[in-house]
Amino acid sequence: MTHRKLALFASLAMLAGSAALAARPAHPAGPARSRLPLKEFMGHVFQRNAEQVWAWTAEEEDAQGSHSGRPVSDQDWENAESDALSLTELTYALEGSAATGLDDPAWRRHIASVRSAANASAHAADAHDYQGLLKAANALNAACVSCHLRFAPALEVVPTLPKGF
Ligand code: HEC
Repeated sequence: MTHRKLALFASLAMLAGSAALAARPAHPAGPARSRLPLKEFMGHVFQRNAEQVWAWTAEEEDAQGSHSGRPVSDQDWENAESDALSLTELTYALEGSAATGLDDPAWRRHIASVRSAANASAHAADAHDYQGLLKAANALNAACVSCHLRFAPALEVVPTLPKGF
């Protein structure tokens, strides 16, 4: 086979291939949806991202002294904003996911509370406003907890300490 013939043969083969592909749609109708189970989404995705958001307001005391996660440099504030915006976007993923979508208005209301706390955190980071960041971190925690209390109450049970503690 000459080069030209080879090239023609190759493009004919490609044509045949694309005709076969055209026969069945490359993508199913409508947007693709995640099939990650809710438990995995919560444990691996939401929790992890929320921890990143909370880390910017973490204040700890230990034997070595006090440690603060408070953003200092412009880059820190940028990163805090990125973490908050990532969480905002994840709320849309949660709401749109077939695996997690519950047909209950309360479910969507709780997701909206997480979204508004994440947005508040992004705005505070953009404005380099630490008090705002703290307030948003608390609102975020409250939003997570209140959905759990409604849909997975066992998660929020605080173990009672034995008498004497
Ligand atoms: C719209 C309701 C809702 C919101 C909002 C919500 N969760 Fe959840 N979460 C659930 C439900 C329901 C479960 C139980 C899932 C299961 O066990 O199948 C759960 C489970 C979890 C778990 C346990 C996962 C495991 O491995 O057992 C973690 C951790 C968690 N959520 C973190 C968070 C965090 C952090 C937030 C806030 C940023 C949040 N959740 C917001 C509904 C919600």
